[in-house]
Amino acid sequence: MSATLAGIDPDQLIDDPAYFAEKVIGEPLWDYQTDFARSPARYRVMCAGRQVGKSRVLAVCALHTAFIRSNVHVLVISNGEDSSKRVLDDCAGMARRSPLLRGSVLDDQKQLLTFANGSTIQSIPASEARARGNSIDLLIVDEAAFISMNLWQAAEPSILARTESRVILASTPWGSSSHFFRSKYLEGLGSPSARVRSWHWPSTASPIADHELIDEWRRTWSPIKFKTEIEAEWTDETGAYFTMEELDNAVADYALIPPEQAHGQTAVAGIDWGFNDSNALVLLGVLDDQELNRGKHLDELVYFLPWLEAHHRMPYSDFIDRIAAVAREYGLVRLISESNGVGQMPSQVLLRRIENQCHLMRQWTPVTPVTTDNRRKTSGYGALKVLLQQGRIVLPRHAELLKQLHALTYEMTPTGAVRIEVPEAAGHDDLADALMQVMCAVEGNFTSWRPDNPRPNRGKILTTPGGTRIPEKPRCWDLPHALMRVRGRDKGDGW
Ligand SMILES: Nc1ncnc2c1ncn2[C@@H]1O[C@H](COP(=O)(O)OP(=O)(O)OP(=O)(O)O)[C@@H](O)[C@H]1O
Ligand SMILES: [Mg+2]
Repeated sequence: MSATLAGIDPDQLIDDPAYFAEKVIGEPLWDYQTDFARSPARYRVMCAGRQVGKSRVLAVCALHTAFIRSNVHVLVISNGEDSSKRVLDDCAGMARRSPLLRGSVLDDQKQLLTFANGSTIQSIPASEARARGNSIDLLIVDEAAFISMNLWQAAEPSILARTESRVILASTPWGSSSHFFRSKYLEGLGSPSARVRSWHWPSTASPIADHELIDEWRRTWSPIKFKTEIEAEWTDETGAYFTMEELDNAVADYALIPPEQAHGQTAVAGIDWGFNDSNALVLLGVLDDQELNRGKHLDELVYFLPWLEAHHRMPYSDFIDRIAAVAREYGLVRLISESNGVGQMPSQVLLRRIENQCHLMRQWTPVTPVTTDNRRKTSGYGALKVLLQQGRIVLPRHAELLKQLHALTYEMTPTGAVRIEVPEAAGHDDLADALMQVMCAVEGNFTSWRPDNPRPNRGKILTTPGGTRIPEKPRCWDLPHALMRVRGRDKGDGW
């Protein structure tokens, strides 16, 4: 691509990403972004807090790489489908606004941005990343701490086969020092070299940081969440209800089951309504693992999350449509809906909506509004903790869910009971809270003899770090009674 605008030095454009940002994107980079963008290190590792300008700098690095040479390929891998899409959307938005990058074409389906010079930027979720890796000039891994070691070990050699290729790893802090993100980050901090350099950007580094807002978060968020998401530091986990290790041990890269492929599989659903925030839906099922975990668990059941979704600022009516659609495709034994606070009205609307569509559903699904109090939280999260410790639940590698669970803190009451702390700023733990709701439905003592006839063509089998096995394409075991515990029946208050 040749620079065509007056007053722009084409050589400097090629040599200097910061000059490129100013002239082509139209806004200069901040100092710390400039330092990062200009670094020639083979691996650039960034551990960053929220809103500090990481997306901006990732997009500038991607666009600059694609701009200065023909036929280069930039690949963006991210933990979640949404977040990898977001990086590409940022790139496409900036390219659209810049006269020098006009002519770039975004293929939404392929998540591919193609430039006039033949260069491309493509984004793919981590789950699909296995097959790629050839001829990548710049690899950007967003939320790298949440990418599995297996995937990284498979991808890294093929990227580094090209001598000119570069790697950018960006993430909020997560994981042990044996994970590639943390170990590369520490290497680049402790002994920076031409190979590895690291940057640490707490949110307060941003020149436009809203310090009043950050102070408010310091007061109202759980200390663990503040330390990881704002200060961008690993915590010593004091007070964490779920440790990072406990959570990581339960994670596997299995494929979630989209509602349209569920064909009536049995699950229970939990709903958390957000206020000016996210709405979340989480499904829990019994894992159809046949003989896979029999050696470990005999006839005790293993649970997993076949599906979850969270929508930022989605109107309640649209979210209710989504839940209704999921309820038509899965065989839901119950929809548990938080009805205190903002949940009261939408829970009622949902109830009517589900009743009205009962002729379209595979089974009768009660909507159960529940009031969430501390006792319920302690019991739901407590049930999750027990299953985690027993290796009887498998979680998807979902960064937001894992972070929210890890951010929960607890305190001991004077009587020795455990009390989960509810942050003042409620509404940020939407996925964790929706999961807590379904955990309350687990009939912990329910057991079933695993049949001896493994399903043919079950495909690849994955093992969590804790040793629990799960097919890469799992299915729900049709054991509705394992998901129908009625809370507090003995106390007469039902649900
Ligand atoms: N160099 C810059 N000049 C002006 N504004 C910038 C610059 N870099 C980032 N910003 C602005 O700062 C805000 C945060 O930037 P960005 O979205 O890149 O941060 P982030 O760290 O990716 O945030 P999040 O944690 O929400 O993903 C945005 O409003 C963005 O427009
Ligand atoms: Mg961002």
